[in-house]
Amino acid sequence: MRLLFIGDVVGRAGRAVLTARLPKLRAAWNLDFVAVNGENAAGGFGVTEAICDEFVSAGADCVTLGNHSFDQREALVFIGRQPRLIRPVNYPRGTPGKGANLFEAANGARVLVVNILGRVFMDALDDPFAAIERELEACPLGVGCDAAIVDFHAEASSEKQAFGHFVDGRVSLVVGTHTHVPTADCRILGAGTAYITDAGMTGDYDSVIGMEKDEPVRRFTTKLPASRFEPASGPATLCGVAVELDGQGLAVKAAPVRIGGKLAEARPEFWEGVGAAPSYLG
Ligand SMILES: [Fe+2]
Ligand SMILES: [Fe+2]
Repeated sequence: MRLLFIGDVVGRAGRAVLTARLPKLRAAWNLDFVAVNGENAAGGFGVTEAICDEFVSAGADCVTLGNHSFDQREALVFIGRQPRLIRPVNYPRGTPGKGANLFEAANGARVLVVNILGRVFMDALDDPFAAIERELEACPLGVGCDAAIVDFHAEASSEKQAFGHFVDGRVSLVVGTHTHVPTADCRILGAGTAYITDAGMTGDYDSVIGMEKDEPVRRFTTKLPASRFEPASGPATLCGVAVELDGQGLAVKAAPVRIGGKLAEARPEFWEGVGAAPSYLG
C-alpha cells in the first residue's frame, strides 16, 4: 500500500504546484492514499471550502489543518459538511469538525487519519499523547483500520520525536508539520512507524516560512509592523513524505519528496528509480 503526505500548502504558489503535480504523481506512483496539510492554503491563513474542494479534486483523500485551522471563519461551518477535512483532535470539546476520521483508500484499505497539535511553544491545548491513546484505543491499527497516519503539527523537534517513539509500531506514519522546513530525518522507527520531524511546506522557499521576506525581516529588525504578511509568490516546492506499507499497516519504505521550486529535488527511488517496479505494475 502506498501513501503520500504533503506538507503545509502555503498560498497561491503552494496551491499551484499541488494542483499541477498531484494528479500526475497519484497516477505515476500508483498511490492508494494522499493526505495534504491545508492550514495555510488560503493566503497563508486557513482554508476555504473552494480550496478544500480543489485539493480533493486534485487527488487528496484527506486535508489536515493545524494552529491556523479556523483563520478563515467559513471553515467553522463547512468543516461540518466536509468529512475529508479534519482539524486537530486536541482542541477543546465543542470545536466544530472532527480531529480524526476513517477513509477508504483506492485499494479498499481503511485509513485512519489523526491531526494533533503539539504544546511546546504553541497555544495550550489538551495533552497530545493522551489524545492519540484515546484515538488508537477506539481504532487500533490492524483491528479498526488497516493504516494510520498522524499529522503531528508542532514547533519543537523534541516533542515530535518523543511522539513518534510513543506511537512506534502502533501507527503507519507520524509526519511532523508546522515548521515549514523539511528535516533530513525521514526514516522507519524500530517497531515499523515511518517518521519525519517535518515534511516541509509546499510553498515558495524564497521567503520566510512561505511569506514574502521583507515584512518578516522588518519586524525582526525594527519590531514595527508596516504591512500584512503575504505569501511569497515565486515557484513553489511540493514537499512531503512517501511511504510504502506492508500487510500489517507498518512501513517498509519511506522517503522524502521535494519537487519543483528552490529546493534540491527528492523522489522515492523505490517507486521510480533504477530497478524499481514500473508503476503500472502497482
Ligand atoms: Fe503551517
Ligand atoms: Fe502551523
